[in-house]
Amino acid sequence: MPSATDSKKSIIGLRIGQSYSSIAIINKDGRADCIANEDGERQIPTLVAFAGEEELAGTQAKALLLSNSKNTISQFRNFIGKSFAECNSSVIKGTAQLVDKDGIPAYSVEFMNQESIFTVQEITTKYITSLRESAENFLGQPVTGVVLAIPTYFTDSQRLALKDATEKAGLRVLQLINEPTAAILTYESGIKSEEYNNNLHNDRTALILDLGSDSLDVTVMSIRSGMFTILATTHDPDLGGAAFDDLLVNHFVNEFKRKTQIDILQNKRALVKLRNAVEITKKTLSSSSTSPCSVESLADGIDFHGSINRTRFEIMSNKLFTRILDVISNTLKENNLDTQLIDEVILVGGASRIPKLQSKLRDTFNNTITVIRQDFEPDEVVAYGCAFQGDLIGDLDDQMISDSIDSSVTLVPHLSKPIGILNAENNFVVIIPGNTPLPARRIFQSSNMFDDQKKFYVPIWEGDIIVPKPSSQTDNNLENDSTLQERPNLSPVKLLAELVLTDLPEKKINELKVDITIEIDINQKCIILAKELTSNKSVEIEIQITQ
Ligand SMILES: Nc1ncnc2c1ncn2[C@@H]1O[C@H](COP(=O)(O)OP(=O)(O)OP(=O)(O)O)[C@@H](O)[C@H]1O
Ligand SMILES: [Mg+2]
Repeated sequence: MPSATDSKKSIIGLRIGQSYSSIAIINKDGRADCIANEDGERQIPTLVAFAGEEELAGTQAKALLLSNSKNTISQFRNFIGKSFAECNSSVIKGTAQLVDKDGIPAYSVEFMNQESIFTVQEITTKYITSLRESAENFLGQPVTGVVLAIPTYFTDSQRLALKDATEKAGLRVLQLINEPTAAILTYESGIKSEEYNNNLHNDRTALILDLGSDSLDVTVMSIRSGMFTILATTHDPDLGGAAFDDLLVNHFVNEFKRKTQIDILQNKRALVKLRNAVEITKKTLSSSSTSPCSVESLADGIDFHGSINRTRFEIMSNKLFTRILDVISNTLKENNLDTQLIDEVILVGGASRIPKLQSKLRDTFNNTITVIRQDFEPDEVVAYGCAFQGDLIGDLDDQMISDSIDSSVTLVPHLSKPIGILNAENNFVVIIPGNTPLPARRIFQSSNMFDDQKKFYVPIWEGDIIVPKPSSQTDNNLENDSTLQERPNLSPVKLLAELVLTDLPEKKINELKVDITIEIDINQKCIILAKELTSNKSVEIEIQITQ
């Protein structure tokens, strides 16, 4: 049996990304580090594959992406805890397609010479089991506990499903932490130098920019006496490193066509090969001014050799940079925040390494206050934070953990989906954005649309991000602006309540003022009050939000 100290050492921090995952531990010297898997990779591809009688995961599964793509499963993390109808399978590029197993998302693959169906939950358990085995191989002893990072935008059922898959993989889950909170914990615990203690352990406001492979998350967090509060958070599910890969694929598809007259847009296998190659090209461009892109036998037995320089890449990526900066400025604006209020911008996510993005961030936060920080590897910093937290609580038993966990790092209750009204043009106007920490209260003012309007009707809607149905050429839709064309919209999806004010005084257009107050407590009990200000007439409704 391992001793108490040994058992503490075998606690890991885990972040499961949509494309890559990392396992972190705390070294003897108190620093966090990521474990490399058996293939020497610290960023472990989030992939599972079936080959004959073998189940493979991580790097080994990625190696089968080309030769066995229909039995290789990728991009599954975000489907966990969802129904089949809630899954947008157009994100899957060239690997096993999602099938509907009694309303649950699953994959149909060939395994042991027969067709087998595995649910997303089962695939996730298999994947996490492989991570546990890698960690145990490295540590030379069983892992005794894990602190798990969870994306901020995950619903409660997704959080529970990921926790459940982790436990089924043989890991004791000590705690779940929001990904940006884990990143902040690394910055709190990870630098022990005097300079950091003097300058940064003070109260401050941080913006955590997480540009991963499939998505962008912007979180603004205030740190006051060691308490972390999420002030604002935005999730763009369609804007990450893969959007940059799309641009490079498009560029080289055109170059290959120019050189050979062969159009590979309809050739799925060639596109998967090219997509793999351009990811390396893109990463190289973050440290070199020019980068090659070579694919053996891209199509019709013809090899492709191309290259691209950083300036060209930056020019073609300009719209993506603008979109990222727009998400940041809208997040700040919608929450009445200003760039000057941000002490630190913390870079998280592998794609935040792109140098032009960093220089554009410096231009955006062009003041004497904000510091752009990348003291830790951006794709490791979340796992480090989990490992630090595990180190802190690892010696406690379950009861002590649940009794003593610092509320600053527990999950803040939040509203998963936005709540708003429809304006005169029938557009959804958000009053309380999704991911707003609870309790929350917002007031919105509306006025009459025509003279002598005696009745006021206020429908309250829950919104959601609606991803446009993919065109028949989803995989191959590589037009220059494809990333813009497929942009998801925030739309009203569920009518929550209807408030009607009647017998209002006769007034000219815009002279009646109605305040609509929406108040939601931590249990998602929601009180909506509509009050006309000149007559003081009001109507109130109480509903229970079930997100
Ligand atoms: N040096 C680099 N330069 C540019 N991009 C990079 C670099 N290193 C990694 N990336 C990109 O970062 C992305 C992976 O980052 P990360 O591991 O944070 O994503 P993830 O957590 O799996 O995705 P998500 O957050 O969307 O779930 C990939 O698109 C990868 O190509
Ligand atoms: Mg991520």
